[in-house]
Amino acid sequence: MNLKEIVKKGYDAVSYAYRADTEGEDSQKYHQWLDELVPLLSPGIRVLELGCGCGIPVARRLSDAFQVTGVDLSPVQIRRARQLVPGAHFLVADMTNLEFPTAHFDAVVSFYAIIHLPLEEQPELFRKMGRWLTPGGYLMITVGHTAWTGTEKEWLGVQGATMVWSHADDKTYERWLQESGFTIHWTRFIPEGDGGHVLILAQRERGQCD
Ligand SMILES: C[S@@+](CC[C@H](N)C(=O)[O-])C[C@H]1O[C@@H](n2cnc3c(N)ncnc32)[C@H](O)[C@@H]1O
Repeated sequence: MNLKEIVKKGYDAVSYAYRADTEGEDSQKYHQWLDELVPLLSPGIRVLELGCGCGIPVARRLSDAFQVTGVDLSPVQIRRARQLVPGAHFLVADMTNLEFPTAHFDAVVSFYAIIHLPLEEQPELFRKMGRWLTPGGYLMITVGHTAWTGTEKEWLGVQGATMVWSHADDKTYERWLQESGFTIHWTRFIPEGDGGHVLILAQRERGQCD
């Protein structure tokens, strides 16, 4: 089984163990992050969420004010998202295979999902995000803090669920974003256990002709 098949099968298996249908304590951090993004966006604009999971809490919150497209590799996650967030549009897809028109979205968000992609596919995804965003469009993502590639079996205590992660360090992500035409407004360490991730708010640069 290739890496993407493992991730897809893994999230199909752990979907409910990862997140219930209702918001829990873990949702608060997402709302705090979105509290910083939402005021930057105009009502009704198009937002893309990559690796949206079951749509709770991010797609649901954003779909109150914006036109949200959520994408996830796992059919189980998307089946739940369609039920839990009827106001958004969802696709089962590998985010690295997506094609959208240039400047189609005004914001792209992705939390704890890019870290599951094979490392060598990640720089091209940032270039695509730069193309999909309108000039001046916003990007809010969580990525790795320390470079690491690894596998865990029986993840979240679910029998037969294997999960794989693959991420670069924060400085590499900053470089990839800058090379893809983004200005980084801020980065923030988000602790988790012995390690953590990095939350980034970036903006697609306005070219001379934009
Ligand atoms: C840790 S979960 C995060 C879900 C949600 N963003 C959240 O923070 O609650 C990672 C999600 O990314 C999805 N994912 C992983 N690789 C993906 C890919 N190549 N394309 C689309 N989605 C992917 C998984 O199926 C899973 O639902």
